[in-house]
Amino acid sequence: MSTTTQPAFTSESTIGDLVAARPLLARFFEKLGIDYCCGGKQTLAAACARRGLDVATTLALLESAGALLAAGPAEVDAAAMGQAELADHIETTHHAYLKQELPRLVEMAHRVATKHGWRDERLAEIDATVLDLANEMLSHMQKEEVVLFPLVRQIAAGAADGFHCGSIANPIRQMEAEHESAGALTARLRELTDGFTPDAEACNTHRALLAGLAEFEADLHRHVHKENNILFPRALAQAAGR
Ligand SMILES: [Fe+2]
Ligand SMILES: [Fe+2]
Repeated sequence: MSTTTQPAFTSESTIGDLVAARPLLARFFEKLGIDYCCGGKQTLAAACARRGLDVATTLALLESAGALLAAGPAEVDAAAMGQAELADHIETTHHAYLKQELPRLVEMAHRVATKHGWRDERLAEIDATVLDLANEMLSHMQKEEVVLFPLVRQIAAGAADGFHCGSIANPIRQMEAEHESAGALTARLRELTDGFTPDAEACNTHRALLAGLAEFEADLHRHVHKENNILFPRALAQAAGR
């Protein structure tokens, strides 16, 4: 499988492959409400059917979106990176961001629920969900950094002695299941906050929390996409080729 060539847009292209080849399309799929990270294995036709979108129109939009989005701020070309470089990139950008940001989101969600929970009962669930999400993500990233990513780097370097395919397939399956769980909690937060939209009475901390959660969601999508659709499949292919 080549991830560096630019595939033609067809209704049978998978969303993950399209975003791997053209990272700027991530924002286009976000706008359409199409899940490109955990849902990256679905074809464009299937994704359009789920969202009630016309495939031909979406294909035409995709063709022009490539040119328009190219004028925006650059997203890194993860597919052009080697495995070790990509694992390093994920750790130094997405993981570093989450380690700094999650405690701040937890603290704000708790403060908002304590002060304003009396006027909106959803704030207590938001508080609990942010805490669950933070705990899950911190433990998840530790497993990637201590177990899976070192293995990915070893396989890429051809240095995984006594290695067999199942020893990477299992942790990858586990990480993908954890991505699903984080995605579901984040979707629940989007629901509980009316799409991260503050109401007229929201205080500044509440507004900062919602802005922080919206940014968290966008970052999670990019992060999971790089792992599920690029790093993991390439590690599996390299392992199978040994
Ligand atoms: Fe990660
Ligand atoms: Fe992950």
